[in-house]
Amino acid sequence: MKGSPLHESEMPVLSGASGGNIAASLAPLLGMEQIQLENRRFPDGEAYVRVPTDAIEAVRSEPSVLVSNTYPDSGIMQTLLLLGAISDVRRGDLANLKQEGPQSLEDVGPGIVLAIPYYGYARQDKRFSPGESVSARQIADMISAYCDGIAILDLHAPDVLNDAKIPIEYVSSMPEIASELSERISPDFILSPDKGAISRASAVAEIIGCEFSYLEKTRIDAHTIEHTPKDLDVSGKVVAIVDDMISTGGTICRASDALRRQGAKEVHAACTHGLFTGGALSRLAKHVDSVHTTDSLPNPRADVSASPALSRGISKLLTKLA
Ligand code: R5P
Repeated sequence: MKGSPLHESEMPVLSGASGGNIAASLAPLLGMEQIQLENRRFPDGEAYVRVPTDAIEAVRSEPSVLVSNTYPDSGIMQTLLLLGAISDVRRGDLANLKQEGPQSLEDVGPGIVLAIPYYGYARQDKRFSPGESVSARQIADMISAYCDGIAILDLHAPDVLNDAKIPIEYVSSMPEIASELSERISPDFILSPDKGAISRASAVAEIIGCEFSYLEKTRIDAHTIEHTPKDLDVSGKVVAIVDDMISTGGTICRASDALRRQGAKEVHAACTHGLFTGGALSRLAKHVDSVHTTDSLPNPRADVSASPALSRGISKLLTKLA
C-alpha cells in the first residue's frame, strides 16, 4: 500500500470483530499503529469487548480511530460496545472488580473517530408510511453519543444525516474503483443503474474519461425492479455499471439485460459495498462479465481497497479535532 504517513505519533487504529482487514491497511496509510481489541461471544451469543491493558496507554495518549461496520445487526451492537469501552478508557473510568491497575485516571477529552466502511441500515433514509423508523438516522443518533467524528464510506443517501450532532466526513471509493476499472477492463461507457447512483457513476466516467448515461429504475419489491426503456449508445462497447451497493443483484442484472439488448460487447459491474445476498453472485455470473467491489464488506469479488478513501476522511476529522 502506497502513501506517506500523515501522523508521526503512535495514534491507534482500533478494530473489533469487523474492520480488522481495513484497519491493517489504514494504519500504514495514516502512519498509525493497528491494535486489535478483544472481542468474543458469550454462550448465549451476546458480545464481549475489552480494550486490552497494554492498549490503554495508546488509546488515552492520542486520538483513536475505530474501524467498525454497522452491519449486520451484531455489528451495530459490537460498534456501540467498542465505542463505550474506548470512551470509558479515555474518560479514565477504569474501575474494575479485580482491582487491577489504576481505578481512575484523568479524562483525556474528546478524540474518538469512528470509521465505518459499510454503514448498515442506510437505505431506510425516509419515512414512507407513518410510524416507520428512519433507521439510517437512528443508527447515527446511537453511535454519535460515543464518538467525536465519523467517516463513512459511500453512504447511500448522506442527506439523512444532515442534523447529525457530530462532524461527519462522507468519503467515496469511486476514484479507486475508476482506477481498477481502467486497469482491468478499460471501459468505453459507464452506466448508472438508477438516478440515485448518478453522482457516483458519473465521477467514475469523468476520471476514466469515457461516456456516461443512467437508467430510471422502479423498485416493485425487494427482489423485483424495472427500468424505464431508454436508448443507450452502447453497441459494440465495453460497459461498466457502477452503483453504491449490490444486494440481490437484481438492479445490475436488469441493467445488464438492457445493455445487452442494445448491443453492448461486454458488461461489467462495480460497486463499493458487495452485500451479495441470497445467491446474488451466481445470478450475476449469468448476466455480467465481471464484478468489482471494495473490501468494505469481505466478499470474493473485493479487489479495491476501501482504506485510501477512509484515510482521506479520517485525516480531515483528526485535523478538526486537533
Ligand atoms: C438502491 O438504490 C441502491 O443504490 C442499489 O441500487 C440497490 O440497493 C441494489 O440492490 P439489489 O442488488 O438488490 O438490486
